[in-house]
Amino acid sequence: MASTPTTLTLNDGTSLPAIGFGTYPLKGEDGIEAMVAALENGYRHLDTAVNYGNEAEVGEALRRSGIAREEVVVATKIPGRFHAEDLALQSLRDSAERLGLEQIDLGLIHWPNPSRDLYPQAWRALVRARDEGLVRTVGVSNFTPEHLRRVIEDTGVTPAVNQIELHPYFPQEQMRSVHAELGILTQAWSPMGKRNAPFAEPAVADAAAAHGVTPGQVILRWHLQLGSMPLPKSATPQRQLDNLDVFGFELTDDQVAAITALGRPDGRLFGGDPDTHEEM
Ligand SMILES: NC(=O)c1ccc[n+]([C@@H]2O[C@H](COP(=O)([O-])OP(=O)(O)OC[C@H]3O[C@@H](n4cnc5c(N)ncnc54)[C@H](OP(=O)(O)O)[C@@H]3O)[C@@H](O)[C@H]2O)c1
Repeated sequence: MASTPTTLTLNDGTSLPAIGFGTYPLKGEDGIEAMVAALENGYRHLDTAVNYGNEAEVGEALRRSGIAREEVVVATKIPGRFHAEDLALQSLRDSAERLGLEQIDLGLIHWPNPSRDLYPQAWRALVRARDEGLVRTVGVSNFTPEHLRRVIEDTGVTPAVNQIELHPYFPQEQMRSVHAELGILTQAWSPMGKRNAPFAEPAVADAAAAHGVTPGQVILRWHLQLGSMPLPKSATPQRQLDNLDVFGFELTDDQVAAITALGRPDGRLFGGDPDTHEEM
């Protein structure tokens, strides 16, 4: 079996665990407990955002876990209402404070909100924050090829990651090839397909039966073999464990292709087309 890396190196030379932990909508004491469980179960990359309203919980879970700070990657995102350069910098400072961290490991722009045309300013703020040491690695989320090329031309800095909707019903072939061309790592949000997870699709269920694993494990393995970094969320400790336990089997090329073939043009979960969907 070909070995699959458990960490991936980014274009700035840093690395991230190959599977991250999605923290939305974990909040409050239950949320902290679910995140502590995730850390105890082996996750070393927590994905949060200002708009998840749980940065304080993420910081608390990290401290409560007792795991050394430098072993865990914490990612957060600048919301649309803070895209103007000074506001974006302030948003990052406020995130660091809520997280209780001196440095944000991965800072992202949550959505480009192109009708406002301020995402280039948010990108300049991220680059400044990186230069000042407030953020270690800079990236984006929900950017199209046009948005990516514009910020690269503007600053000469290529985002290290672009976090996009990616699951079997929406395999994002074009975005993945643009990322490969530009040297950007693809991160997958809603990697299972959330409430619309294709666990019962024969392409997924048959592969699960063939390898003696769960359908969820098949989907996460499919991500790894595509070169996509999934960020599954689960509040259930056993699922948290299962979702990391995907390095002991390998899908055949045919199985990968059959799952990718589930993709369809209207496969997005809620119509989150970054050219038109905006979040503030
Ligand atoms: N950048 C963006 O715009 C954006 C947008 C959406 C999400 N995100 C990020 O992506 C993360 C993940 O996305 P998501 O939560 O929407 O979708 P997801 O991870 O695809 O699905 C989460 C759902 O799947 C269930 N689940 C997890 N593992 C399972 C398994 N092995 N078997 C069966 N069910 C399983 C979870 O239930 P239980 O919790 O009950 O186990 C939960 O209901 C979010 O938490 C967030 O960090 C980013």
